[in-house]
Amino acid sequence: MRRMRLDRLLTRAGVTRREAAALVRRGCVLCNGRPVSDPACLLDLDEDRVTLNGQSVRTDAHFYVMLHKPAGVVTATEDGRFGTVMDCLPKALRGWDLLPVGRLDRDTTGLLFLTDDGQLGHRLISPRWEQEKVYVALVTGRVTERDAARMDEGIPLSDFTCRPARLTVLEAGDSQSLCEVTVTEGKYHQVKRMFGALGHEVLTLHRRRVAGIDLDPALEPGQWRELTREEISHLYAVTEMEAPDHG
Ligand code: URA
Repeated sequence: MRRMRLDRLLTRAGVTRREAAALVRRGCVLCNGRPVSDPACLLDLDEDRVTLNGQSVRTDAHFYVMLHKPAGVVTATEDGRFGTVMDCLPKALRGWDLLPVGRLDRDTTGLLFLTDDGQLGHRLISPRWEQEKVYVALVTGRVTERDAARMDEGIPLSDFTCRPARLTVLEAGDSQSLCEVTVTEGKYHQVKRMFGALGHEVLTLHRRRVAGIDLDPALEPGQWRELTREEISHLYAVTEMEAPDHG
């Protein structure tokens, strides 16, 4: 049985615990159609249905976000200097304790998942499950088949040797080339360092796919949506987790 305190559940509707208690006192909160008097009462999330001012409050186990990360924000929950990916989400989602799954550099754009589902998040970034991440990189200089072969062999960096990566040259020019690169690990600045080892500086980097899920083309930088049930089930399948029960 999944249990949760009523006031904790109500934070998922974007209110603080103190506000939740006041709303309960005012009779704005119903559980299974009846007013509740104790904000600390324990709910059975599989059975109980809660409404706040007539709107149902979600009792799902977890929340899953697909964000089109814009350039300029850091992948963190707080930062003293820069905006964070959390600033792209509405305040009403704060009650879910979402965390970014992995990390994109401040200047990197593209697909970032955020969730409070710690086990799934862990498996998506753990090298053990070898989830593919696909990046599109604009780099300096002409990228050649020789570069692709070296990525395929695994590039040795100062502190580790990268796993083989797949490089496809989309457009090659003398001064700049556009490439797609697929990696199965996510070490610090990895894609930039891999290109750096081949003598190419990364000018822009965009992540378009993670674990078989594409960034939704309808999302502009800074926009987000919830993952669909099919996408969540897919992520559970590829990380060898039991399918979530959507109730
Ligand atoms: N590799 C990088 O170098 N930067 C990113 O943001 C992601 C992968």
